[in-house]
Amino acid sequence: MDKLAVLGCGVVGSGVVELFAKNQALIEKRCGKKLQMAYILDLRDFPDRPYADLLVKNIDPILADPDVTVVAECMGGVEPAFTFVKACLEAGKSVSTSNKELVAEKGDILLQTAKAHNVNFFFEASVGGAIPIIRPLHKCLAANDFSAIAGILNGTTNFILNQMIKENMDFSTALALAQEKGYAEKDPTADVDGHDACRKICILSSLAFGKHVYPDRVHTKGIREVTLRDVELCSRLGYAIKLIARVQRLDNGKILPTVMPMAVEEDDLLSHVNGVYNAVMVRGDGISKAMFYGRGAGKFPTASAVLGDMIEQVQLDHTIPSLTWENAGNSDFLEDLTAFTAERYIRTTAADEMLLKEVFGALKENSVYTEEDETVCIVSRPMNEADVEAAAKTLTQKGVTLLAQYPVLVD
Ligand code: HSE
Repeated sequence: MDKLAVLGCGVVGSGVVELFAKNQALIEKRCGKKLQMAYILDLRDFPDRPYADLLVKNIDPILADPDVTVVAECMGGVEPAFTFVKACLEAGKSVSTSNKELVAEKGDILLQTAKAHNVNFFFEASVGGAIPIIRPLHKCLAANDFSAIAGILNGTTNFILNQMIKENMDFSTALALAQEKGYAEKDPTADVDGHDACRKICILSSLAFGKHVYPDRVHTKGIREVTLRDVELCSRLGYAIKLIARVQRLDNGKILPTVMPMAVEEDDLLSHVNGVYNAVMVRGDGISKAMFYGRGAGKFPTASAVLGDMIEQVQLDHTIPSLTWENAGNSDFLEDLTAFTAERYIRTTAADEMLLKEVFGALKENSVYTEEDETVCIVSRPMNEADVEAAAKTLTQKGVTLLAQYPVLVD
């Protein structure tokens, strides 16, 4: 009999306990073993819950019990999660975490600790909620040399953008609704300002390209400045504005991870990912392109991924060699934003087409759209950040203001 423990009885932790209780017979049949939910660590009391007698306020009984083989970490944040997870791994217990901040900040250390103790540090639930993406990347797609990953990795912001365009809802009402539904982080700025999506693309980049990518090395911009007007005008030109987390390998071999709102063409599947759903597109030399789609946040979708890892672990007696990456070293494998080039959705004050052509080059066919108030929207030639800055300067000299710009996604 393997015993399981859960650290943190919040939205995800309680989901793990409840989903396990609901499907215990099925789970035991699938992994061929008897399992017991033995401990739940939380400082709070939950006297009315059926699992109240499993609650402990200290990690020691979990570390001391040799029958606990897998621990789910659902506390969130770096500390004390890091200390607890490291202690579990050192005590010979595998860990399955939903905590993207922990993996993005400390993944290399925890993966090495797991290897040193012949156990596993799993993190399927840290990216994309219910969507299987970690296991496919290092197992099913292990024969591929990856060249890009692009995804909608934050359910809260996708839900908010969707409510804005479909329901004409203002930003704060949509955010409050996302919080009510349990999608948002405790501090919603992590969602809105792109930090949550950044942590997730760091994890995918580290796994796909083999070296730890730290969040503070990634250009990250959230959705605070996205206006209803740009969402609508972009849509008239055939694009949807989405918060895209992306990593691409450039010709010089370096990788460039970014998080930013981008204009996604209507015929790209990512433009149709709505509400709390997430999607991840992976490009590799064997597969060309593969797409993964599902619920990216919420109690049971995330609990499902945590339990999937726990179920795999109770069938294992070794560290999985492909579930790892190296330390970042000097980080010279990362390219910076100056190398980022893309067509741009551009919105300016009144301007004539000749001037726009002069500044932005050959405009995309049928891309010029002029509003009643003479605001002009176009899609430009591929430009880098310096090109956009120079274009804005030239426009200003001619009395035209660049009001908004979003890079167009090419995946
Ligand atoms: N706040 C996150 C989201 C939760 O909205 O996607 C899942 O990681």
